Amino acid sequence: MKKFSATTPIYYVNAKPHLGHAYTTIVTDAVCRWHKLCGEEVHLLTGTDEHGLKIQQFADAEGVSPKQFVDRIAPMFADAWRRLNIDVSDFIRTTEQRHKVGVQKLLQACYDAGDIEVDVYRGHYCVACEAYYMPEELDDGKCKIHSTKAQYVEEENYFFRLSRYEKKLLDWYAAHPDAIKPDHRVNEVTGFIKQGLRDFSVSRKSLTWGIELPWDKSHVAYVWFDALANYITAHGYGTDEKRFAATWPVDYHFIGKDIIRFHCVYWPAMLMSAGLEPPKGWAVGGWLLVGGEKMSKTTGNVVNPLDLIDEIGVDGFRYYVLADTNYGNDGDFSYEGLLSRFNSDLANNFGNLAARVATVVEKKCGGVGPKPSSKGELAAIATTSVADTIKEWQNVQTSRALDATWSLIRATNAFLEAHEPWKMEPGKELDTVMGDALEALRIVTILASPAMPRTCQEVWQRLGMSGQVADQRIGTDTQWGRYPGSTKVHKGEPLFPRKKV
Ligand code: ME8
Ligand code: MG
Repeated sequence: MKKFSATTPIYYVNAKPHLGHAYTTIVTDAVCRWHKLCGEEVHLLTGTDEHGLKIQQFADAEGVSPKQFVDRIAPMFADAWRRLNIDVSDFIRTTEQRHKVGVQKLLQACYDAGDIEVDVYRGHYCVACEAYYMPEELDDGKCKIHSTKAQYVEEENYFFRLSRYEKKLLDWYAAHPDAIKPDHRVNEVTGFIKQGLRDFSVSRKSLTWGIELPWDKSHVAYVWFDALANYITAHGYGTDEKRFAATWPVDYHFIGKDIIRFHCVYWPAMLMSAGLEPPKGWAVGGWLLVGGEKMSKTTGNVVNPLDLIDEIGVDGFRYYVLADTNYGNDGDFSYEGLLSRFNSDLANNFGNLAARVATVVEKKCGGVGPKPSSKGELAAIATTSVADTIKEWQNVQTSRALDATWSLIRATNAFLEAHEPWKMEPGKELDTVMGDALEALRIVTILASPAMPRTCQEVWQRLGMSGQVADQRIGTDTQWGRYPGSTKVHKGEPLFPRKKV
């Protein structure tokens, strides 16, 4: 069985999850669910980033130990993903023993390769990014992402000799031109490498909240070295080499554009140093902005996704984040935008189609679905919609994938409006119209299920189909004409009651 393995960033536990985290995690989950529909064995890794100065400072501010602090916040992430119906295969916390063992193994491997050496760091550090910056990378001494003052640091650090990897990285990217999605981000990465790479610090002496270097216990690992390693420690690096060999490299790291340098430059170099393969790919998302600014725990303009699902439903929310922003671009979150998309795409389109089809079948076909015709005017549209949907999910373009699926919904609604089956007498002509509409709706239900798993399962049952929509297969079960007819169709409650704007 073909495997598909994806990761989300492991989020900092300095505060509870916000919409930005939910966004990346939902995209990852939907893409994984898509690959499952394609018959692949899927693995989704997520988790929490719990060490470092930022966490230490938040714990200090609360007057608790960092361990107490992270133990309180980390479960909020696991809980949010449960509530958003994320199909998590593994949740790693960087404070776990399996992680610590793997990080120390990775550090030792890079050290043994001669790529880690002691030196003195002098320069600026943004605690919110947990990143070192050159003066020209700051705006008036402030971090460009968080608009907070970077602090000056001077201390003995161990450095990773990233400068040795310029050519190796460029050669690797030249040999793997499709590794970064969307495409245009590749130039950002290779452009950055071509400017010349500086060695980066991989340890802190002034901090204790972290993982000790195996060869010098007076230092703890730099939080990014520690965090990036989660992608291999969770797959058994350092604790279960057989499992690791069977799973690494993963297909995609899903990340936001804020952490592209760590993931696409530092991380593959660290892996190469340790004699390991880089990941197969990265899927880089843009930022969700609120009032034009990046939503962030540090800036404080956060939206809690769990408040929104109480109002709009889990699937309505999942649909919105997947459909509203082209993956890779920045998106603008607004409450009005959320409601208006809910009303137009879900209430007026998908929900309306499901209700219309079931109503007419209940009233005029005795509640039993007629068979679709072998061709019909919708068949060609369905074939195109399926092909486009496949192409876009394959490219991690969730919004375009859903739009390709919605083109079939829109066409089917237009088809019903043109034929007005609600005005027709029972008989062969009506059966042909309704059979085709049922077939289109059945196909849509499979195609939309990665975005809205529960709603699509509900529609699947209302159509009288047996089994799970998630167990259908793209390619075979999405072919026109697979609806057998003669199933009992139920109308049920409205799927997406319209929201007042
Ligand atoms: O960077 N819009 O954790 P983090 C879209 N621990 N996505 C957003 C977002 C926004 N406004 N805000 C956050 C870290 N994200 C490190 C990662 S991985 C080895 C270590 C998402 O809590 C986006 O995916 O700051 C971004 O890259 C990630 O959350 C950063 O989360
Ligand atoms: Mg951040």
